[in-house]
Amino acid sequence: MTRTVYVNGEYLPETEATVSIFDRGFLMADGVYEVTSVLDGKLIDFEGHAVRLERSLNELDMPAACSKEELLEIHRELVKRNDITEGLVYLQITRGSDGDRDFVFPDPETTKPTIVLFTQKKPGLADNPAAKKGAKIISIEDIRWGRRDIKTVQLLYPSMGKMMAKKAGADDAWLIEDGYVTEGTSNNAYFVKNGKIVTRPLSSDILHGITRKAVLRMAAEAQMEVEERLFTIDEAKEADEAFTTSASAFVMPVVEIDGVSLGDGTPGPIAKRLREIYLDESLKAAI
Ligand code: PDD
Repeated sequence: MTRTVYVNGEYLPETEATVSIFDRGFLMADGVYEVTSVLDGKLIDFEGHAVRLERSLNELDMPAACSKEELLEIHRELVKRNDITEGLVYLQITRGSDGDRDFVFPDPETTKPTIVLFTQKKPGLADNPAAKKGAKIISIEDIRWGRRDIKTVQLLYPSMGKMMAKKAGADDAWLIEDGYVTEGTSNNAYFVKNGKIVTRPLSSDILHGITRKAVLRMAAEAQMEVEERLFTIDEAKEADEAFTTSASAFVMPVVEIDGVSLGDGTPGPIAKRLREIYLDESLKAAI
């Protein structure tokens, strides 16, 4: 099926959508992105993604390509035109193209940003069999740049991390810097010991996950104990359970770390409960 995508003000069949070869997103990874999930044909936490997008753009001195209201309208239009019940909306904004390659940023007055959105159908996103099984992860060194709080399209190392996990027969990788877990390749990381949920505090070392924020709020509301602090992979290996959060996988239980089984090797009760609460509450608030 040919999707309808959005490029710089136009809705086009995916086969007709084009971006310049001089686009700075293509040449320099000079761009930011957001991934918003769709359940029941509605957007999950659009507001959170729109606010983080604005922050990413500001941090990189990039102009906004359009208003929040316009963004919402485009998201909804693409969900409708592509008949998305369960899936994702991918949004990318780059610093555009001034028709040549140069390290220096082009003048934003004359070079407009490039904005691209497309949808991905993901039937079974909520009722994901992978969440019933739980994920196996490996740990690898975190050699990404120092501004991971900005959601840039520099995803080569996270892609390599997923490939390392795949080669090792695992599902994903957690990243380690100076002896402490930062986050997963495309998710935030948590472990649970004696009923307490532990996760790394926010800083420029990790992406400020929109799902993380919602899940921590819901955990507190459900009287679960949460501690935000640095933790090692060895602590996580000795945990009762572990999980990750992201817009594309919600709350994903982790059942194995570096070959060590957690608990009884099946998704833990806190991860399962948080996944249920998150899906339930997010769906109620979806727009
Ligand atoms: N990834 N950390 C990293 C490095 C991420 O790439 C992501 C999201 C997260 C979780 O953030 P959120 O809860 O806002 O999705 C944490 C998206 C889903 C992706 O790249 O596809």
